[in-house]
Amino acid sequence: MSLGGKHIVLGVTGGIAAYKAAYVARELLARGAEVRVAMTHTATKLVGPLTFTGLTGTPPVTDLWDPSYAGEVHVDLARWADAIVVAPATANVIARLAHGLAEDPVSATALCFDGLLLVAPAMHHRMWQHPATTANVATLRARGTHLVGPVFGKLASGDEGVGRMSEPLAILDALTASLAPTAPRDLASLDLEGVRLLVSAGPTFEALDPVRFLGNRSSGRMGFALAERARDRGARVTLVRGPVALPDPRDVEVVNVRSALEMEAAITARREQLDAIVMAAAVADFRPREIAADKIKKSDGDDAPTIELVRNPDILAGLGAWRASRASERPYLVGFAVETTDLVASAQKKLERKKVDLVVANHASVAFEGDDNEAFLVARTGVTPTGHVAKTALADRILDAIRDGLATRGSLGAPKS
Ligand code: C5P
Repeated sequence: MSLGGKHIVLGVTGGIAAYKAAYVARELLARGAEVRVAMTHTATKLVGPLTFTGLTGTPPVTDLWDPSYAGEVHVDLARWADAIVVAPATANVIARLAHGLAEDPVSATALCFDGLLLVAPAMHHRMWQHPATTANVATLRARGTHLVGPVFGKLASGDEGVGRMSEPLAILDALTASLAPTAPRDLASLDLEGVRLLVSAGPTFEALDPVRFLGNRSSGRMGFALAERARDRGARVTLVRGPVALPDPRDVEVVNVRSALEMEAAITARREQLDAIVMAAAVADFRPREIAADKIKKSDGDDAPTIELVRNPDILAGLGAWRASRASERPYLVGFAVETTDLVASAQKKLERKKVDLVVANHASVAFEGDDNEAFLVARTGVTPTGHVAKTALADRILDAIRDGLATRGSLGAPKS
């Protein structure tokens, strides 16, 4: 979607990711938006205001008390704006936005504004996980603020964790999606409010050497559709994604992984806190026993190398066994089964072998790339064919089954330990 004619205020605050805000500004302009920039004092130390003057043609607002400005700059900016995007948003500015503090051009403009506010957090993962930030983010969400990211990855400190700002294109996609006219939010459809759901999506790539891998065919679309529909229905969603070319969905915690072992670690670290897990990822069953440190070379006359494989853990079966060992019914577990023959019978076996609650069985010919799917929902209580449906509609059917399963166990809306 084009942003033609939209007035966007880009708020830049003092995280290292501030340099990426220049790309956000450039991309907004490329999509036809008019852009004005507001910066906190710390942001001006990290990226030069002149960069934004050059990109947008207008100097950014860096001082609420600029004597050369006749009016109240934050009031005028807010009046002009159709949307405000704060990227990067530090823990500090998130706290200010949550509490209505207005000491800098970004938070003061936001406080004067009642339209779409999109926030792209960026901070060390400990700051992101701190209960103060969690509470501030919850306040913002409850007020209707949109969030995109943060995502898992390398942080400025050299540590790894969830705290990296979403990439500029993901921020742009979140903004265009948020600005798109939508049907009024139907409160009755927030039937997953408070449910903590993790979805895995996409393939895993198992490295052979620094440039090659073994992978699976998977677009990730089914898992992304599940994450987005669950979010729209009120769930708190974590999306553990293998390497796919889809933009991060907004208002979802995104964890990027590559290999099955990384995916397993990301899920194991979170499993205690979850009400439901849906394994929509196409996890590679095998990985090379060794990853060559250097690119495997071919030389004339040599035979092809033999690659020794070892089994990857079955993540879903591991979750089923772990849950059974605790004699617990939580989290509700959903797996997928892609088959070419004996669809339902294989899914029923998988249900028992992996000790899960629901297996979504689909035929290999329809499962992969397209927007549609055709499946059977196989549970102990029965088998339900879905017919040929869009992946978003199938996502809703799966989420209905999860909601009903949680309700039967009395875990829907129950207090979390
Ligand atoms: O056994 P099969 O690969 O057919 O099972 C598919 C289901 O199990 C999917 O939900 C997939 O995400 C999950 N799986 C897994 N770990 C593996 C292989 C598959 O969690 N190593």
